[in-house]
Amino acid sequence: MKKLKIGSFLSVVITLLIVYSLVKWGIPAVSREVTTLPFPLPVPGTLMFFYMVLTLVALFLMVTFSEEGLEDFLRPVKKFLRGGYGKIPRAVIMLAIPLLAGWQAYEITVPKVEAPAALRIQHPSSNFPKSFEAKKNPFANPTDADIDAFVEQAKANEVEFIPQVQEDIDRWSEEVDPEHILEFFPVAPMKALLAQLESGTVDEETAKAALLEKNLFEGRALYAMNCRACHGDSVAGDGPMADGFKLRPINFTDNGTVETIVEGYTFWRVTNGGPGLPTEATPWDSAMPEWKLSLTEAERWKIILAEYDMAQKTPRIPEAH
Ligand code: HEC
Repeated sequence: MKKLKIGSFLSVVITLLIVYSLVKWGIPAVSREVTTLPFPLPVPGTLMFFYMVLTLVALFLMVTFSEEGLEDFLRPVKKFLRGGYGKIPRAVIMLAIPLLAGWQAYEITVPKVEAPAALRIQHPSSNFPKSFEAKKNPFANPTDADIDAFVEQAKANEVEFIPQVQEDIDRWSEEVDPEHILEFFPVAPMKALLAQLESGTVDEETAKAALLEKNLFEGRALYAMNCRACHGDSVAGDGPMADGFKLRPINFTDNGTVETIVEGYTFWRVTNGGPGLPTEATPWDSAMPEWKLSLTEAERWKIILAEYDMAQKTPRIPEAH
């Protein structure tokens, strides 16, 4: 069988075309399989440039490795220049090269009229369900029944905490051996409640303020565990991971953020994260995770309570209908 032999000039051209196609269409096609997203991940232009330069360098080394190699590569080029493939093809190609170069130079320098890139809408909400608008944070306004249940627990010295902080409180309790578990919170509202428990009469206001402190503590703990990495200790959007995102995590202390939206919207954003946003939230996708997958509704509300408190902001009040 006769071995098919192609010249080194042709194999260089074919290799370049194959590498280009792999990067341009192969990688995006594989990315769809790997990520299972409904769209391919494109290869950035600079990366494409690197790949092609590296391929060129490798091919150059291969061709110029030996005298014969170079000779072999240049043979068809020389033959073409001498008119070995015909005079007309030579004239056409020799004319096409400067024309192509001129057209490219023109394309690059000619001023273009283009619509400016759309600015990202800060609170994209076209798919915000109306039913969320009137949602209230149950931990900011506990019901009488919630407060009574808390007072009962406090009286029996059996206050329940979320499991995420229970272990730390138990450890503290073993070390300090307090009279009452609520001594864990060295804040005025809790001290007032403890004094009233001692005297036997507890009023609703004091109990409510103390319960708020407990909820804030739990919310802060959950924030530290889940949100701090991006939104930061000071809730200013400067956590250790923040610099990694094109669309920076929101700074809650900024007047244009959580203060301008109703609680129900904040809850919806935290619940659905970046994946739940409508298309006007592009061109930069939000890295905000979809918290309904890993936090219960109560946990999300407690975090939001702590988030507003740490930012020293209050949510916007929904308009009366
Ligand atoms: C992986 C990083 C990351 C983590 C972790 C994260 N966020 Fe975000 N968050 C973002 C980014 C990025 C944005 C900005 C998107 C935007 O413009 O709306 C954002 C936006 C928000 C917003 C929208 C604010 C507004 O004004 O519209 C809220 C509320 C929020 N995050 C709360 C939280 C809470 C609560 C947690 C923890 C449960 C959390 N985030 C964890 C990255 C993160």
